[in-house]
Amino acid sequence: MYSTVVCLLSAWASLTAAQTSTYYSPGVPTAEPIAGDYTGVYRPRVHFSPPTNFTNDPNGMCPVVNGLVLLRHAYTRERMFKDANGTWHLYYQYNPTEPVAGNQHWGHATSQDLYHWENQKIAIWPPNNTTFVYSGSAVVDTNNTSGFFPNQTNGVVAIYTLAHQTTGAGVQNQNIAYSRDGGYTFVTYANNPVIDVHSNQFRDPKVIWHSATQKWAMVVSYATDFVIGIYTSPNLKDWTHASNFSHHGLLGLQYECPNLVEMPMLNSTSTMYLLQISINPGAPLGGSISQYFPGSFNGTHFAAVDGAARINDFGKDNYAGQFFYGIPGDENQVSLAWASNWQYTSLVPTGVTEGWRSQMSLPRRNYLANVTSIGYDLISTPYAIESIFAQELAYNSSLGNATLLLDYASTSGALYFSANITHLTPSTLQGTVNLTFTSSVSGEFISLGSPVNGDTWIDRSHTSGFENPYFNGKFSANGQFDSSTGTWSISGVIDRSILEVFVNGGRQSATNTFYSDSPLDTLRVGVAGVAGSAGVSVGVWALEDTWAQQADGNGTVVGNATMGSGGGYRF
Ligand SMILES: *[C@@H]1O[C@H](CO)[C@@H](O)[C@H](O)[C@H]1NC(C)=O
Ligand SMILES: *[C@@H]1O[C@H](CO)[C@@H](O)[C@H](O)[C@H]1NC(C)=O
Ligand SMILES: *[C@@H]1O[C@H](CO)[C@@H](O)[C@H](O)[C@H]1NC(C)=O
Ligand SMILES: *[C@@H]1O[C@H](CO)[C@@H](O)[C@H](O)[C@H]1NC(C)=O
Ligand SMILES: *[C@@H]1O[C@H](CO)[C@@H](O)[C@H](O)[C@H]1NC(C)=O
Ligand SMILES: *[C@@H]1O[C@H](CO)[C@@H](O)[C@H](O)[C@H]1NC(C)=O
Ligand SMILES: *[C@@H]1O[C@H](CO)[C@@H](O)[C@H](O)[C@H]1NC(C)=O
Ligand SMILES: *[C@@H]1O[C@H](CO)[C@@H](O)[C@H](O)[C@H]1NC(C)=O
Ligand SMILES: *[C@@H]1O[C@H](CO)[C@@H](O)[C@H](O)[C@H]1NC(C)=O
Ligand SMILES: *[C@@H]1O[C@H](CO)[C@@H](O)[C@H](O)[C@H]1NC(C)=O
Ligand SMILES: *[C@@H]1O[C@H](CO)[C@@H](O)[C@H](O)[C@H]1NC(C)=O
Ligand SMILES: *[C@@H]1O[C@H](CO)[C@@H](O)[C@H](O)[C@H]1NC(C)=O
Repeated sequence: MYSTVVCLLSAWASLTAAQTSTYYSPGVPTAEPIAGDYTGVYRPRVHFSPPTNFTNDPNGMCPVVNGLVLLRHAYTRERMFKDANGTWHLYYQYNPTEPVAGNQHWGHATSQDLYHWENQKIAIWPPNNTTFVYSGSAVVDTNNTSGFFPNQTNGVVAIYTLAHQTTGAGVQNQNIAYSRDGGYTFVTYANNPVIDVHSNQFRDPKVIWHSATQKWAMVVSYATDFVIGIYTSPNLKDWTHASNFSHHGLLGLQYECPNLVEMPMLNSTSTMYLLQISINPGAPLGGSISQYFPGSFNGTHFAAVDGAARINDFGKDNYAGQFFYGIPGDENQVSLAWASNWQYTSLVPTGVTEGWRSQMSLPRRNYLANVTSIGYDLISTPYAIESIFAQELAYNSSLGNATLLLDYASTSGALYFSANITHLTPSTLQGTVNLTFTSSVSGEFISLGSPVNGDTWIDRSHTSGFENPYFNGKFSANGQFDSSTGTWSISGVIDRSILEVFVNGGRQSATNTFYSDSPLDTLRVGVAGVAGSAGVSVGVWALEDTWAQQADGNGTVVGNATMGSGGGYRF
């Protein structure tokens, strides 16, 4: 890493007295983004997927406003769309050499809207070929607490786990690297590791700024002890263990990828903290899943409101979600998750036929609500999905008990759908709404349905592109009807090989991948038995093909080629 940035950073040479080495895998570009072929039939059109080979956890997600002090409200939806300089940074667990996990790096992509992604060069490389760069987070050190950024307010510090594979008894310890060009190029800190407890199961640091105590706070997983450690630091270099949060909720085999985030509570002026913990394996449906605990945090200790395990997603492909750093706690938080499952991620057909495996979930906007029947509930909905609507395919605000059929073969293959049953009362909760996406060539289909007064179900078992005993076919979850609005709703996105469904305004959500031999191209929406006093509105929109807009004539997305090895992009 250092060799590529030595010229750029000559002005700061005195600050980087000791340098650490970097190992570049043979054949992997170091100075420019890896080019990817995004034309494959399984390639999602509005979800992030890596140019080639393998991704897993999202890492280090932080929005950076170019060259500006990071003012409060700088990242709200309103500001994001007005300020052409607002840039979201997604780093991700990346193996650039094989379409399976191993040889982990931090890949990097940026976006202005969380849907159109620009691939950047690999951000963080391992020091040698027996060490992997595992998950972690990134912060913007506006006040230069670290001392890495004497003349700037937009310095980025990445905090990540180095996993020593064959040397050092497999130790996993916490390391930092800093970026003076807004998150594009990183220099590893000379005195790494910053935390080392000589454990081989100690990983995934997520750091936030706690303004009341004016300190950084880290949550990090002692994976097989089922302990989340909380550390504090004044400067991101020197860390003090403050407390542990342990043995809450589902344990599975390991706790991974903790997140601590402050977020609004619907209809309340006060905010709450949420601690999210991913477990793998051990999900109720098998493999990987995330759970969350609403509670309070005072800078050193997290206390959960109750002992309940609340699960983020009722599908099978939503793990290791991360919340973007730096969004004020009284605004809706934004997250992305890895949309796959360790039980079968290395086997899905995209690695063989298209040279890539795994994608991120849709960006989600999140807040907490007090849902009378179950208490606190994490609400998550797609982030500003209307911004990528390409075309209205169907809209009917009084469908009644009827069927809507449409052929979407000529679209990008990515659709947003929404159905609302309105004017409901507790005595008129009746009827069903079903959606079926079918291939007109092979007859394969995936379907979902919701009785207005019952459990929402999803069925991906009628696609034949992938067979695996862990690739569950059917899912269901309680619909959580919202009596305060008298509306029952279902919405979602289907995107070639991934389906995300949101029930009752995001009280429940599900993420599922699927692999059909022939592309699905026909949608049937059926409504039956709904009360005569209720309103039925259904809409379907084609979504933009966000990757095609960046592809050359061969369908190759080369990424941010203008940046080259010089760094300093837009700064
Ligand atoms: C983006 O940042 C540059 C440099 O700070 C500034 O000149 C420009 O006006 C900004 N653009 C917007 C849309 O804010
Ligand atoms: C690889 O790098 C790590 C971290 O710097 C170091 O501890 C380890 O000894 C190195 N391994 C080899 C084989 O050089
Ligand atoms: C790692 O690098 C060393 C030389 O530095 C080489 O001998 C060895 O084969 C490499 N190991 C792997 C797994 O690539
Ligand atoms: C950064 O600030 C320091 C201290 O104020 C100053 O000595 C140095 O020249 C500055 N460096 C750059 C690159 O502006
Ligand atoms: C930066 O300093 C200001 C003023 O002391 C403080 O209010 C704020 O919390 C600090 N923020 C960070 C991220 O260091
Ligand atoms: C945070 O909570 C813990 C546990 O209740 C308590 O011991 C500690 O004093 C509190 N710290 C602050 C700053 O209030
Ligand atoms: C994975 O990466 C290697 C090394 O860059 C490359 O040779 C190979 O083509 C990639 N694999 C696929 C399936 O694209
Ligand atoms: C949730 O709201 C109900 C009233 O609808 C209230 O009784 C209850 O205390 C609230 N629960 C929490 C945990 O705030
Ligand atoms: C939140 O407050 C609004 C406005 O008072 C009200 O319409 C709505 O029912 C409340 N929602 C919940 C979940 O209590
Ligand atoms: C939806 O599917 C369920 C289960 O197959 C079925 O009972 C119901 O009649 C269907 N409703 C519609 C409107 O197709
Ligand atoms: C839909 O079907 C139900 C039951 O068959 C019936 O009671 C209701 O009136 C119908 N709704 C409309 C809008 O026709
Ligand atoms: C359903 O309701 C939501 C929330 O009010 C709205 O955004 C959406 O457009 C509605 N869908 C239809 C088809 O009217």
